[in-house]
Amino acid sequence: VVKAAQDQATPLQPVTNEVVPDRIRQSFSMRIEYDVVFTHDAFDPANPVLLETLSAREPARQHRVLAILDQGVDAAWPETRGWLRAYFQRHAERLRLVAEPLLMVGGEASKNAPALIDWIHGELHRHHVDRHSFVVVIGGGGVQDAAGYAAATAHRGIRTVRMPTTVLSQNDSGVGVKNGINAFGAKNFVGTFVAPYAVINDLRFLDRLPRRERVAGMAEAVKVALIRDGAFFTWLEENAAALAAGEPSATATMIRRCAELHLRHIATGGDPFERGSARPLDFGHWAAHKLEAMTAHELRHGEAVAIGLLLDSRYSRELGLLPEGDLARIERLLAALGLPRWHDALTSPGPDGRPAVLAGLDEFREHLGGELTITLLRGLGHAVEVHEVREPLVLRAVAWLRERRPAP
Ligand SMILES: NC(=O)c1ccc[n+]([C@@H]2O[C@H](COP(=O)([O-])OP(=O)(O)OC[C@H]3O[C@@H](n4cnc5c(N)ncnc54)[C@H](O)[C@@H]3O)[C@@H](O)[C@H]2O)c1
Ligand SMILES: [Zn+2]
Repeated sequence: VVKAAQDQATPLQPVTNEVVPDRIRQSFSMRIEYDVVFTHDAFDPANPVLLETLSAREPARQHRVLAILDQGVDAAWPETRGWLRAYFQRHAERLRLVAEPLLMVGGEASKNAPALIDWIHGELHRHHVDRHSFVVVIGGGGVQDAAGYAAATAHRGIRTVRMPTTVLSQNDSGVGVKNGINAFGAKNFVGTFVAPYAVINDLRFLDRLPRRERVAGMAEAVKVALIRDGAFFTWLEENAAALAAGEPSATATMIRRCAELHLRHIATGGDPFERGSARPLDFGHWAAHKLEAMTAHELRHGEAVAIGLLLDSRYSRELGLLPEGDLARIERLLAALGLPRWHDALTSPGPDGRPAVLAGLDEFREHLGGELTITLLRGLGHAVEVHEVREPLVLRAVAWLRERRPAP
C-alpha cells in the first residue's frame, strides 16, 4: 500500500524491519507561467514593459535588479548602459539597480569559461542579490545560457528576466526553459532546466546585429516550420527575400511565429524538461552540435543547424520518407535565406577513418540519455521519430550535400 504524503498524517508508527517496504509517495505539480513580450525600445522610460514585468506581482515594493550585459551588445549599442541608468532613475520608486551592469564576453566564449560562472556568483553574493531580487540578462543566446545558469544556481535559483538580443535567442533559445555551459568539449554539458521569470524581446536590438548572426538565427525558424507548421514554411518561402534582406516587419513576424511554436511545443508536447528520449526541437541538431565543436565554433549554431537539417532532410529522402519535391523546397529556402548548406567538416575523418561527424550520433544519444531518437521528416510540417540510423545512408546524404556545395 502506498500512502500519499498529502493525506492527513497517519498516527505515529514505529518503523519496523518488515520485509514489505514502507513507502510514502510524494507528489505535487507546479504550474509554470511566464510572459514572452515583444516590444521596441524597452529602455525608453515611457515603455512600461520592463517596469510592469518586474513589479506587477508586488507593486508596492522597490525591486532590486542586477543586470548582466553582453559585451557585443554593449559595443554595438554603447547607449545601453545610459538607457538602463535612466530607466531605473525614472522608475526609482519601484526599481533599483544594485550595481553597474556586469559586462560579460559575448558568444560561445561566455559558455566556455567556468570562471565566469564563479565571477557572477561572487557578484550576486557581494551585492546581496537574493531570491526576491532579479537578474536581468541582456544579450545573445550564449550570454543567456551562461548567465542564466549562474543565476539558476545561486540561492538555488534567482528570478531571471531574459532580454535576448539576437534573432536566434529571440525566436528559440531565449524563450525556452534551458540554460547551460560547455564542458569536456561537450556542448551544454553543465546546465539546468528552469523557466525564466519573463522574456522581453526588444526587436530594436536586431537593427545592429551583424548580418551573419541575423541570417544564422533564421535556421531555427526553418527547423520549427519543418517539424510543426507547413503553412509557416510556405510563409517563409514567400517572404524569403524580405527576410534575407533583414526587413524589420518580416523579421518580427518570423520571430514571433517561431517563438510561439517553440513555446507551444514546450507547453503541450508532454515533456517540457525532456525526461524522455524524443527531442523534436532538436531536428538537425545531432550533426549541428558536432559540426560546431569540430569547427571550434567557427560555424555559428544556426549555420550548423541549417546544414544539419538539410542533412537529415536528405536522409529522410534516402529512407523514402520525404518526397523529392519537398526536399528541393527545403534546399531552395535555405539558399534564399542565405544559410549555408555545406561545410568541409562534414567529411573530415575521425580517429577510425570514418567521418568524424558520425560520432555526433553517439554523443546525441548520450546527451538525451537512453534510446537514440532522431526526428526526421515525412513532409513539410510533419515530423517522425526513428530509433535507428543507417550509417551508409547518412554517408549517401553527406555525399549528396557535397555534390551540391557551392564552388569555393
Ligand atoms: N538554451 C537553449 O535552449 C538553446 C537553444 C538553442 C541555442 N542555444 C545556444 O545559443 C547560443 C547561440 O546564441 P546566438 O545565436 O544568440 O548568438 P551568440 O550569443 O553566440 O551571439 C553572437 C554574437 O553577437 C553578439 N551580439 C548579441 N546581440 C547583439 C546585438 N543585438 N547587436 C550586435 N551584436 C550582438 C554577441 O556578443 C556575440 O558576439 C549557442 O551557444 C547555442 O548553443 C541555446
Ligand atoms: Zn538550436
